[in-house]
Amino acid sequence: MTTACAPGKIILLGEHAVVYGRPALAVPVRQVRACAHILPAETGEPGWVRLEAPDLGFAAWLHEATPDHPLAAVCRAALQAMRPAPFPPIRLSIESTIPVASGLGSSAAVSVAIARALNNHFGASLTTLELSALAYTGEQILHGTPSGIDNTVVAFDQPVFFVRGRPPEALDLRSAFHLVIGDTGIPAPTAQAVGQVRRRWQVDPAPLETLFDSIGETATQGRQAMIDGDPHRLGSCMNDDHRLLVDLGVSSPELDRLVESARAAGAFGAKMSGGGMGGNMVALASPEGADAVSRALRAAGAVGVIHTEVAP
Ligand code: PMV
Repeated sequence: MTTACAPGKIILLGEHAVVYGRPALAVPVRQVRACAHILPAETGEPGWVRLEAPDLGFAAWLHEATPDHPLAAVCRAALQAMRPAPFPPIRLSIESTIPVASGLGSSAAVSVAIARALNNHFGASLTTLELSALAYTGEQILHGTPSGIDNTVVAFDQPVFFVRGRPPEALDLRSAFHLVIGDTGIPAPTAQAVGQVRRRWQVDPAPLETLFDSIGETATQGRQAMIDGDPHRLGSCMNDDHRLLVDLGVSSPELDRLVESARAAGAFGAKMSGGGMGGNMVALASPEGADAVSRALRAAGAVGVIHTEVAP
């Protein structure tokens, strides 16, 4: 059996503005992950691939799946890029512990796991950047015009400073950071939030461009704070970014409540993360303060809390 996995992710700074060419910062969340397993299929013809995602209630032969199915699209793109020698039928099964539609990168992780498993199985030697680009084909079907930050951070499995259309910068950290992620339990359809921002931008671009510049600036400042190992500065960038995302109209009362409770419990900073309107928020805590922040988030209504360490 060939198995490949990919972690979840959280965007620390710069979401939404990253769609419009500004920089953003994201880190892997290794407590949750998606894995793809490849086994011989008991039935089928040479060259056939059976795709199975029991958690999503999906099972189909690849050649029978519709062109717009994201998992099938990634699989097709991967086979086209790898051009494997004739092979006996295989079964590719996917499992994931990453909550869907919550800003933790579940679709990107599933796509990267599929591409990486096929790469390993067929002994192809695609680079991390090429695997990330394959995963992007699935992201496009799901999200329309994604920036590509999700598939990038998940494929690299490292903190990344990302600008659309440029090679990502994997960050070398001086010290570890402790993040506490709180889930509002409200589904967060990224495409809807991105669409709402786009409509506002189409009607009146100037104020949104100003907001995007300020959001991008928090990511640029946050990058340096992260490299320097300065949680006070990084936390303050996160607070600034949350305020700007509220102005952009993509936060929600539930997200704001969790953000406030994390700050009141001593977090260096806290903000909503990802598309917003639900899903997850993220707080930066000291190693000894993370438990208090977790408790405060639960008391404020978080349905799930993840404490993750971003290590150098
Ligand atoms: O909701 P998530 O975690 O998949 O993040 C979306 C991030 C956006 O910047 C809003 C969209 C994008 O494509 O980058």
